[in-house]
Amino acid sequence: MKIIIAPDSKQAGCYAGSLLVPLFTKIEPVRLGLATGKTMIGVYQSLIRQLAAMSLCPVAHVSTFNLDEYWQVPPNHPGSFQYFMHRYLFTDLPPFLEQIHFLRGDAEKAEDECRRFDTLLSQEPVDTQLLGIGVNGHIGFNEPGTSFSSRTRKVQLSPSTIKRNALEFPGVMPKAALSVGIANIMEANNVILVACGEDKSHVLSQALCGSVREECPASILQTHPKVTVIVDKMAAQSLIKYFSRHAIQPLGDGLSRVEIDENSV
Ligand code: F6R
Repeated sequence: MKIIIAPDSKQAGCYAGSLLVPLFTKIEPVRLGLATGKTMIGVYQSLIRQLAAMSLCPVAHVSTFNLDEYWQVPPNHPGSFQYFMHRYLFTDLPPFLEQIHFLRGDAEKAEDECRRFDTLLSQEPVDTQLLGIGVNGHIGFNEPGTSFSSRTRKVQLSPSTIKRNALEFPGVMPKAALSVGIANIMEANNVILVACGEDKSHVLSQALCGSVREECPASILQTHPKVTVIVDKMAAQSLIKYFSRHAIQPLGDGLSRVEIDENSV
């Protein structure tokens, strides 16, 4: 696992965006797993900026798969994740997009909708899965205690997620969602996890340097062969205490990098 520490959230977003750019400059089909949340706004803004600066001849080759959606929230609701994606990314990306895939929060039957989405994901692994992390360690809406073998299904949100996300949600905050499972996430060829801010510091150190356990869903990423974690300094506060000083290598532009293996932790 590679960890990139950026001086601030803006630069963390830029770095994450720069890792996504090569997927858009290819011409062969790309399958990209996407996340929502405040952290992703900077990543998507930076991706759009970097692509615009390249004056490319866009080819529609990227298929996207969003991780989750609030249950019983229609796509045109301003609190839906589909609405978020159009607002922060898709409106500026159409020439690159072959197809966008969402779990439908307004589906008639959650079980059928999850089966449909799981089948889409299972056809072929996504090339890259972008992730944020909840302060309780969730990835997607896989809350603490979720089985590591979970697949796409309807989930109940934890009280801490409801409380936190209610601050952003216009209207009555849903208590349930549809989410891809941990097993789906682990099938991605590459994973990019982005976390910013002091309130992610504790959970990041638990997820990346603590024991791998279902109580901290993101800890499973320690067992994935290709993970890049991008954090800002605030989020890295607890994490860097686990590394010896020489394990942290400067990369230029105020960025530094740590490779986690048995020698550096
Ligand atoms: C949402 C998702 C969540 C968020 C996480 C962090 O699609 O996958 O796991 O990434 O809740 O959200 P922010 O960035 O708002 O702290």
